[in-house]
Amino acid sequence: MKSREQWGSRAGFILAAIGSAIGLGNIWRFPAVAYANGGGSFFLPYLIALLTAGIPLLILEFTMGHKYRGSAPLTLGRISRKGGEWLGWWQVVVSFVISSYYAVIVAWAVAYTWFSFKLDWGSDTGGFFQKDYAQFATVSPGSFGGIVWQVFLPLILVWIVVFIVLFKGVRKGIEKANKFFIPLLVILFAIVVIRAVTLPGAAEGLNAFFTPDWHKIWSGNVWVAAYGQIFFSLSIAFGIMVAYSSYLPKKSDITNNAFITGFANSGFELLAGIGIFSALGFMAQTQGKEVGDVVEGGVNLVFVVLPQIINTLPALKVPFAVLFFLSIIFAGLSSLISIVEAYVSAVQDKFQMSRKTAVVIGAGLSALISLFYASRGGLYFLDTVDHYVNQYGIALAGLVEVILIAWVFRKLDTFQKHANAISDIRLVFWWKACLGVITPLVLGYMMVKSVIEDIQTPYGGGDYSIPFLMVSVIVTALTMIIGIILTPFKWKRTLSEKEEAS
Ligand code: PFF
Repeated sequence: MKSREQWGSRAGFILAAIGSAIGLGNIWRFPAVAYANGGGSFFLPYLIALLTAGIPLLILEFTMGHKYRGSAPLTLGRISRKGGEWLGWWQVVVSFVISSYYAVIVAWAVAYTWFSFKLDWGSDTGGFFQKDYAQFATVSPGSFGGIVWQVFLPLILVWIVVFIVLFKGVRKGIEKANKFFIPLLVILFAIVVIRAVTLPGAAEGLNAFFTPDWHKIWSGNVWVAAYGQIFFSLSIAFGIMVAYSSYLPKKSDITNNAFITGFANSGFELLAGIGIFSALGFMAQTQGKEVGDVVEGGVNLVFVVLPQIINTLPALKVPFAVLFFLSIIFAGLSSLISIVEAYVSAVQDKFQMSRKTAVVIGAGLSALISLFYASRGGLYFLDTVDHYVNQYGIALAGLVEVILIAWVFRKLDTFQKHANAISDIRLVFWWKACLGVITPLVLGYMMVKSVIEDIQTPYGGGDYSIPFLMVSVIVTALTMIIGIILTPFKWKRTLSEKEEAS
């Protein structure tokens, strides 16, 4: 038996898991989602979602990877010879699709770090992003319109970093990179937040963010938003956490690691909310508007609104801009590396390839596909693929995962024993109840709701034509089909042969 690669230290694993969890979801998604769903009162559903779904699922995925020592397809194939493997492939193919556009967003951040030195975006930051930089406003959705070179070049740079890190392996590559990225990210981002909270108007921004709207707590949508945020933010059902925990040594405190990862991620999310809303409060004050009128999330927040805020800072515009975009790069890169590892490890396991060959094939293919998103019309594709893949790839695959494990393979008892034998914190009945009942119910409700909404109002509110939207729907359906196709291929090694851990 060969030995599987291993993390060099417990901190190395935890930092890598936190690195995966902390990403754009924390910085551009959480603040806007929290605000829209009740501000201060959103923290209650959010905390409940963290404790009843986020951390229990993290514990589950850590246990699966640790016990079966494989990437998601290998682990699920070992859990059930008959029915598990396709789910693993489905998850890693979804990860593959996401990685190809996530890399482009990191590339934009690289370009914007460069622009920060001279504040190249000028006063019309929206026009700069839409027409001069990404140039999507010059074409209509559905056409490519040729490569945008100022996206292409940083994109190459991003992929070079990913290749180097993954080539070097788990301990010397992923672990080292995260030991560098994550502490640096926390320091840089903390400086950004301190500057933001000391700006005039910050208090109004924070007031808007934290003022509770308790009425909203009765709306199902708020609870769906809380579970959705936790799910995405903790990188659950991407095949990432299973792959990362397959490199854990035998003696590892799984449950504690999951609590640390979950709380660290939420802590960063809170920090981001404070920073972003302080900055929005400042902007509202300078423009004489209400905070509620300037709230933004997503691409617009980072590449249009933040540059606008930076333009009006009283001093130190350039250092603030550089630190902010560097934070986006570090947060994004550590997530990108983890998502690429999810499928690289799967290819490596299935075909018994060397890591380097698996990286060239897996990451190489994703890098090639990412070039489509570096075209003029790339952003439209990115936006729609992201919508459907998140909704029906990640969330649906997560739902299928809990149902299979809890009700079809009936593995919760075995996993509870496995985790308890090596962890300080003991899992009791509530853990099984969370995974077997609460999570499937909430995710199931979420799924039905989003299918109804997507049929009633096609995504984009009329900006996109139905044939154009179908492209992304087909890509999403393909992720599932490819999973089914890959399953019958023989494993180069038998499913029962487990690599040793020390
Ligand atoms: N937890 C990540 C985030 O909050 O951004 C989710 C993620 C997205 C992980 C994309 C990896 C990735 F490539």
